[in-house]
Amino acid sequence: MSGRIAGKIALVTGAGSGLGEATAQRFAEEGAHVVITDINAEQAESVCQDISAAGGSAEYHYQDVTDERAWDTLVGMIIKDHGRLDIVVNNAGIVIRGSVEDTTLEDWRKTQAVNLDAVFLGTRAAVKAMKGNGGSIINISSIEGMVGEPTAAAYNASKGGVRIFTKSAALHCAAEGYGIRVNSVHPGFIATPMVENAIAAAPPVEGAALLERVNSEIPLGSMGEAVDIANGCLFLASDESKYMTGSELVIDGGFTCH
Ligand code: NAI
Repeated sequence: MSGRIAGKIALVTGAGSGLGEATAQRFAEEGAHVVITDINAEQAESVCQDISAAGGSAEYHYQDVTDERAWDTLVGMIIKDHGRLDIVVNNAGIVIRGSVEDTTLEDWRKTQAVNLDAVFLGTRAAVKAMKGNGGSIINISSIEGMVGEPTAAAYNASKGGVRIFTKSAALHCAAEGYGIRVNSVHPGFIATPMVENAIAAAPPVEGAALLERVNSEIPLGSMGEAVDIANGCLFLASDESKYMTGSELVIDGGFTCH
């Protein structure tokens, strides 16, 4: 088997769509066996089939990333079936838009549960599984974990939490000598169902204006593609990034430069 992560066992959450799907595909193209999880079984199974049809190796399991016990079951199964776990991408996420004034406590908690609590659960489960052999944990944050957005109060908080939690986990793993690297990825605006649905959900004039504003504010001129983030994850998953831990990989077409 050849490839930049040949023979590695990788887990990608929320891999039925968007960035997770593209990351699972790139990992499989570069020789990893990819465990794909999502709450959307239909889409994730189809991603799995596409990978197999292209000659890659993948399997799908239903997983709600907010379910603490399901993490133990899933990781236990991966270790039993494959003997180890080398790469985990905590990617599953949601956006519920709202300012500090109009975000309900329910929406706040739902956002933290999926975007932040689950990243903690996934990182903790991965560290436990990787301790003996080392590995790479990649937490998908956002540029919105670095800069504020008036209508993304809960999302900003969750992604900022992922950013700094990643550094704590990275320092712990380094201090313990586990050989486990933990890094965060900060995508800018990437054309995925998450962003397309948010634009579609806005009234037509506002949606078009939002799209125009987003594209005009990106120094490289347009939204990125899912594969742009997948390639960043591939680098962090591979030994090419062996001296990186606790780092923030920003992939945003230059958006946060100004
Ligand atoms: P997406 O909506 O296309 O895909 C998210 C996937 O997560 C879906 O397949 C969904 O079913 C799954 N999911 C949601 N809740 C889940 C749960 N509780 N358990 C398991 N799976 C669950 O979104 P996209 O754009 O691919 O986003 C992926 C990650 O990237 C998210 O964490 C998002 O916040 C982050 N991100 C995305 C950006 C973008 O521009 N698309 C920008 C910055 C960050």
